[in-house]
Amino acid sequence: MSVHPASRSRVTLGSLAAKKAAGEKIVMVTAYDYPGAQIVEAAGVDVVLVGDSAAMTVLGYDSTVPVTIDEMIMLTAAVRRGLSAPLLVADLPFGSYEASDELAIATAQRFIKETGADAVKIERGGTTVDRARALVAAGVPVVGHVGLTPQTATSLGGYRAQGRTADKAARVIEDAVALQDAGCSLIVVEAVPSSVTAALIPRMEIPVIGIGAGADADGQVLVFHDLLGIYDGGAARFVKRYADLRTDAVAGVTAYANEVRTGEYPAPEHGYAMPADEVARLGELLPQR
Ligand code: KIV
Repeated sequence: MSVHPASRSRVTLGSLAAKKAAGEKIVMVTAYDYPGAQIVEAAGVDVVLVGDSAAMTVLGYDSTVPVTIDEMIMLTAAVRRGLSAPLLVADLPFGSYEASDELAIATAQRFIKETGADAVKIERGGTTVDRARALVAAGVPVVGHVGLTPQTATSLGGYRAQGRTADKAARVIEDAVALQDAGCSLIVVEAVPSSVTAALIPRMEIPVIGIGAGADADGQVLVFHDLLGIYDGGAARFVKRYADLRTDAVAGVTAYANEVRTGEYPAPEHGYAMPADEVARLGELLPQR
């Protein structure tokens, strides 16, 4: 059943906290453009993330690292125009916030002012905890991201599950708690064993959104292109495909191409008519050949 945007009140950080308190699961999904935003709005999701996964899903880069601030701002502004009820979170791209508090604040302020995003997401613990604290102090709502952090996947040994030993799991949990203490409003935890999430949840007052982190999280996030089967390529084991839009899209464009080649398209009903007397007059107006 679709939910008409006008019938929903706007999702806020407070309403997400209330959902966690009530034990209601939070639904988060990525979107990268205006039609995608309209689709996730109609589906009634709670939070929309303009993830830097856009680098791979819509811009064709081979990782999230190359995407620029300007590219992310253009995509986030397009999503904003298609959304009304869900909370809108924008990923700050790699290299746009890590070096100093001043850099993080300047970048985040650009996103908030130029796109209308409600919050920004930043990756890792460590020095990112300081950046989160500075952003919150500057009035910017922040979402943290721990576990597998794609912007620094190379230093984590690639796109692989994190926290698979007790020591490493403890570090993931410490990072999440430190980000909470720094004032983050939500935490994304990616690709960790379910037992790590189970140990994390009792330590968190803010909602924890999992992706490949088991069923104990307060909510789940998936990439739009993965869950709809748009992206041509292997998906991580945590992805569940709910549609196969790529197959449908290729079939649709192939049928169009065939009909253009055979002359079946366009048919008369796809064209515009002109009154017969005007056609006759046109013949008189034009020089004879
Ligand atoms: O960039 C992204 O899409 C993300 C989600 C996978 C959480 O960070």
